[in-house]
Amino acid sequence: MSQSLLSAEGIHLNYGPIKVLKDVTLTLEEGERHVIIGPNGAGKTTLFKVLSGELRPTAGQILLEGDDVSRTTGFHRVRRGVGRSFQVARVFLEMTALDNVAVAAEARHAYEGVRPGLWRISATRRVMDEAAELLSVLGLDALRDTPASMLSHGDRKRLELAMSLALRPRILMLDEPTAGMSPTDRAAAVHLIDRIMRDNGISLILTEHDMGVVFQLGTRLSVLNYGELVVSGTPEEVRQNPMVREIYLGRNAYA
Ligand SMILES: Nc1ncnc2c1ncn2[C@@H]1O[C@H](COP(=O)(O)OP(=O)(O)OP(=O)(O)O)[C@@H](O)[C@H]1O
Ligand SMILES: [Mg+2]
Repeated sequence: MSQSLLSAEGIHLNYGPIKVLKDVTLTLEEGERHVIIGPNGAGKTTLFKVLSGELRPTAGQILLEGDDVSRTTGFHRVRRGVGRSFQVARVFLEMTALDNVAVAAEARHAYEGVRPGLWRISATRRVMDEAAELLSVLGLDALRDTPASMLSHGDRKRLELAMSLALRPRILMLDEPTAGMSPTDRAAAVHLIDRIMRDNGISLILTEHDMGVVFQLGTRLSVLNYGELVVSGTPEEVRQNPMVREIYLGRNAYA
């Protein structure tokens, strides 16, 4: 059997006496776009935190290309190509859009060992060029000198995506990338995410509440309910699953 890009096996996460994740097992294969769906409070963001290294699982293992990374930090996982965006965008509010992306690009150059000193000036130029290019890919050209605090919600989410991409991830985890967007912005964001993932060969794990986005982007769907992964399969399999229809989509959702 070929090895999964990322796999989580028997993950448990407790907050004190509260069992938030219960025996969650899932995999991400190369090129796959795995959408985790489930009601509010099901544990989706918590699962992201465990996969990205922000939280240590109470029990269970996380394997990156077969290597056990369960006890490693988020930084280690970023270096191994795991990038993440957040349900509520985390950007440096006082800094311009361009500088925000440059900070992320700079961080990557630092851990890739770009040497300081005489090389510093050309390294800085490279970082700024890279940041400008990413903003352009995301359609934020006109806003590059705008402080992040002045950006609209949708633009801030796109900026955060640019920052995640500056880390050149092989796996990107997006926590509700279109939350709070207008239908027009949402359609544009889906198109953009689809194109960027394809162009850069990035595998994706995402959460979403918008079912249109789920079915447009997902190649595999898993359903979390009260911290348990109850169903996993192709979008069609999950759509047809009676338990899913009842617990999550609502009885008439796709009738
Ligand atoms: N730091 C914490 N301490 C205690 N309980 C927490 C903590 N963070 C989250 N929880 C609880 O864990 C459960 C799962 O939360 P989580 O944020 O992972 O859900 P979610 O599926 O992402 O929900 P949403 O769809 O609303 O984003 C919830 O019951 C939440 O109240
Ligand atoms: Mg969440």
